[in-house]
Amino acid sequence: MKTLILAGGKGTRLWPLSRELMPKQFIRIFNDTSLFQKTIERALKFSKPKEIFVVTNKEYKFRVLDDLKELGLEIPEENILLEPIGKNTLPAIYWGMKTIEENYGRSKVAVLPSDHLIKVDENYITAFEKAEQLADNYFITFGIRPTKPHTGYGYIKPGEKLEGGYKVDEFKEKPDYETAKQYVENGYYWNSGMFLFDSTLFIEEVKRVAPKVYTAFEEAKNIEEAYEKVPDISVDYGVMEKTDKAAVVPLNTYWNDLGSFDAIYEAFEKDKTGNAVKISGFKGEYINIDSKNNLVITERLTATVGIEDLIIIDTGDALLVAKKGESQKVKEVYRKLVESN
Ligand code: GDD
Ligand code: MG
Repeated sequence: MKTLILAGGKGTRLWPLSRELMPKQFIRIFNDTSLFQKTIERALKFSKPKEIFVVTNKEYKFRVLDDLKELGLEIPEENILLEPIGKNTLPAIYWGMKTIEENYGRSKVAVLPSDHLIKVDENYITAFEKAEQLADNYFITFGIRPTKPHTGYGYIKPGEKLEGGYKVDEFKEKPDYETAKQYVENGYYWNSGMFLFDSTLFIEEVKRVAPKVYTAFEEAKNIEEAYEKVPDISVDYGVMEKTDKAAVVPLNTYWNDLGSFDAIYEAFEKDKTGNAVKISGFKGEYINIDSKNNLVITERLTATVGIEDLIIIDTGDALLVAKKGESQKVKEVYRKLVESN
């Protein structure tokens, strides 16, 4: 199996940890390994280094190369596809599939986002093995059992039972809260954001359901022109919502999208007071007087007194203080910053 890693997103909800030139997939939040490096480690479960392809923005080239070098991996530099501009996940996956076919011919390809924390256990391995079989006839997504009506995810209605999964009756990307609530009550899955596709079937399906993406790549003289012309669209809206050949393989393992500081709080280890604390840099230090259930990430000497349920992120040059439960809105800070610059 080949692996295509998507590593070109911005991660604006994690400002100020995540920055224009340091998006979330490259931040070292967990035991000094980046989420991108963790994704590479997952990819190696099913692919040899030369079968791993990465699509990222040209701005992140050296982050990718440095992370790979640190892991001591010989991934050919030609496998790292550098986008001139980000046009969301469908163009990235399309370009990746085409490149894999040019190198290896028709292939089964696992598509992995690089902004997740996932436990690789037996369930993970068997889910991918089942998916690889089903991918002969279906576009496979991996389904996660929802824990709440999260509006940042795609939702999948399982239909007819298949060997190892279900046909998808409906795929709905990022519904509103009320709809998400109904979906959770009615047994829908979350879309994990990981997929497994047969490269040839995928390219044919894009031609059918997203012809503008197909023609942008097939008619352009070079990649710059293709990216100028191609619409900005995610694989979820562009293919998964439209195709009638999707199937879902349930994935029953720890999965965290780390899409917000609330998700990071969930993933971090907590001390007796319910505080999750990460100190970095040699000046970092944290003093807690009667504060509980906070997330504190700091590079400086930081103290909190008698506070609860706050998110405090100090990167030395920027400070974020937010209420827990509201951290989805951090992307609005980022938007304001972009507008004012
Ligand atoms: N190369 C490239 N170019 N990669 C990109 C681009 C781009 O323009 N935009 C995003 N990515 C990468 C991100 O870095 C991330 O690893 C992955 O593609 C997914 O993009 P996100 O922007 O993080 O998507 P999302 O989290 O809002 O939604 C997706 O994931 C959810 C689960 O986390 C969807 O697939 C949802 O349906 C799903 O539930
Ligand atoms: Mg994401």
